[in-house]
Parts: sequence; structure tokens; C-alpha cells
Amino acid sequence: MKILVTGGLGYIGSHTTVELLQAGYEVVIADNLSNTRAEVLDGIEAITGQRPAWLQVDLSDPTACESAIGPLQLDGIIHFAAYKAVGESVAEPLKYYQNNLFSLVNLLGYVSKHPLCGFIFSSSCTVYGQADALPITEHAPVKAAESPYGNTKQIGEEIIRETAVAAGLKTIALRYFNPIGAHPSARIGELPLGVPQNLVPFITQSAAGLRGLLSVYGNDYPTSDGTAIRDYIHVVDLAQAHMVAVERLMENKQEATMEVFNLGTGKGSTVLEVIEAFERATGESLQYAMAPRRAGDVIAAYADTTKASELLGWTAKKSLDESMRDAWAWQCALKTQG
Ligand code: WQD
Repeated sequence: MKILVTGGLGYIGSHTTVELLQAGYEVVIADNLSNTRAEVLDGIEAITGQRPAWLQVDLSDPTACESAIGPLQLDGIIHFAAYKAVGESVAEPLKYYQNNLFSLVNLLGYVSKHPLCGFIFSSSCTVYGQADALPITEHAPVKAAESPYGNTKQIGEEIIRETAVAAGLKTIALRYFNPIGAHPSARIGELPLGVPQNLVPFITQSAAGLRGLLSVYGNDYPTSDGTAIRDYIHVVDLAQAHMVAVERLMENKQEATMEVFNLGTGKGSTVLEVIEAFERATGESLQYAMAPRRAGDVIAAYADTTKASELLGWTAKKSLDESMRDAWAWQCALKTQG
């Protein structure tokens, strides 16, 4: 079975490529290196002993996309390739709509011509905004997007939904909560370019002396310790969920032309609990300072994992402490790489 992994040199894409290769799938990566480094391929090879084919292509260009993947006989596509920085998307919305939506439309053009090819879309819990009820199920209403980034996920899901009905496709949208951590081998992990916007890479870079003090954005939320709650899921658990989703489509077990699954642990953790887990798992002590709330942040978001458990037979296995241990091991490995 041949699977195209777009953004396969990125954070979740590279971890998913590892799981697919180790399960015996043939993987072709499409990645234009806009938000990663080619060396990730070396890490994938170091872990799996295999070096998947890599197409360096801008999928948002219809001609480039067609010439790159048109000749391929694909059994499935997992589409990760997208810009994902919330703040940047507010400053440059057209860059996000052009890249994220044009690449999706071009890929769906291929799938419409090859309807047996399963299609899995990297979506986000961002679509829920501040959900009315917790934990969040897949039936929770999609709220008005807080950013162009979040809007590209919402619009992307609608484009897939309508195309899948019209062309009789097999599609799944996976709504991630907060991916963290790194492969236990410390050969691949998160590579935030520039100042990390996300909590865990800032923690590990601050602990490694690469950043200043961690700012905790808000300690006046209505939570146990005043800091906001998220569902932090180990990236390897997330990668394995993608493989299970691929198997579902390859075996034609899907129950609709588009299925949606929340991918989280089902457990919410506050920012301070994440810091405590980091210190417990690594023995490092982390300095931080309280700061005002960050615009656009929700108070709490964590997944109801029933649907993924019952239909995919998948649940997250790794603990917050394991995620922090693996994130730190990766950060230390990066330091030696220079
Ligand atoms: C987590 C918590 C911050 C940094 C984002 C994307 C979302 C999804 C997951 C892709 C919040 C707090 C953070 C810091 C802090 N990505 N924080 N100090 O915002 O929940 O979600 O990543 O699908 O689309 O929006 O993740 O890691 O930025 O923040 O206190 O330096 O940590 O306020 O409460 P977020 P995050």
C-alpha cells in the first residue's frame, strides 16, 4: 500500500511516516521545506532503516502538484502540509488561505480522479473555539474561527465534506488537541522555527537556556490553579491514530464519505501542571513568570475520546510525564546537533 504524506518532514508528519513505514506501508513524502529541515529525513531513516521517497513540491501550485503526484498510484493521502501559526495567520491571512486551501483543493482534484484513494485531513480542536460543554465531543458545534489559521481548518473540512459526497470519496478529518513530545529515540521531534508560540517547545528551550523566562499567560482563569487547561497528547500516540485511520479506509470500514474524530487523551492539564510534569520527568527546574492572558486563548479544551476508542479502537497511551521526558530528550539531542 502506497501512502502520500504531505508535510511528511514536519512534526506530526514525520512521526506518522515512521509509524507507517514500521507497519509495512510504502510512503512518499511531499514537503516544500517551508517549515522544517531536510535533515528530518535522516532521522526517519535512523529510526526505521528506510528512506522514503521525497518530493520537494509546492502543493498549492496546481501544475506542480499535478506533475508531482499525478503519475503516482496512491492508495491513500494523509494531508499535513499547511501553515499553522495562529498569530502569523492574523497578520497574513491571504498567505494562509492561499497555501492551506489551494493545496487542499489540488490534492482533492487527484482524489476525485482516484476515488479509491483514502484521504485523511489534519484538522484541529481549534474549530470548537471555547466549547459549551467539556469534554468536547465531535458533535460539539463548530464556532466562529478565532483566526484565519483556524478558519482554514473549518473551511477545509467543508470543502472535503462536499467533495467527498459529490465524488464518493473515503475521507477522515482528525481534530488534534495539543500535540507534544517527540519520538523516544530523540531522532525526530518538534522543530519550531523562531520563537516558539506553543507552550512545550518554549518550556524545553527555556530550560535549555535558549530562551528567557517562560511567561504563563494568565493565572486568573476559573480553573484549579488559575491557569488554562488543554489536552496534551504525545505525538507518537497521535501518529499511531493516523495509521489506524489509514487502515480503516484501506479496509473500507468507514461509515460515511467523511468521518470526524477528536484525537486527545481525554484529560485536561493546566499550564502549571505541565510545568510540574516537566520538572518531575526531567529533574530540571523551570523558572517562569505570570503574565496577562493571551488574546484568543480559550479557558479549557479537552477531548471526549469515546468515538475514536469505539470506532477506531484507538486510545492515547502515553502520560504527560512521558511526553515531557521525550520532549526534553529531543531538546538535549538538538543541542548536541548544534
Ligand atoms: C497552550 C497553553 C497558553 C505558550 C495551539 C493551536 C492549535 C493547535 C494546538 C494545531 C495556553 C499557554 C503558551 C507560552 C503559556 N495547533 N502558554 N506560555 O494555543 O492551546 O493551541 O496548538 O492544530 O490550533 O492554536 O497551544 O501551546 O500555544 O498554548 O502560558 O509561552 O499554554 O496560554 O493556555 P494552544 P499553546
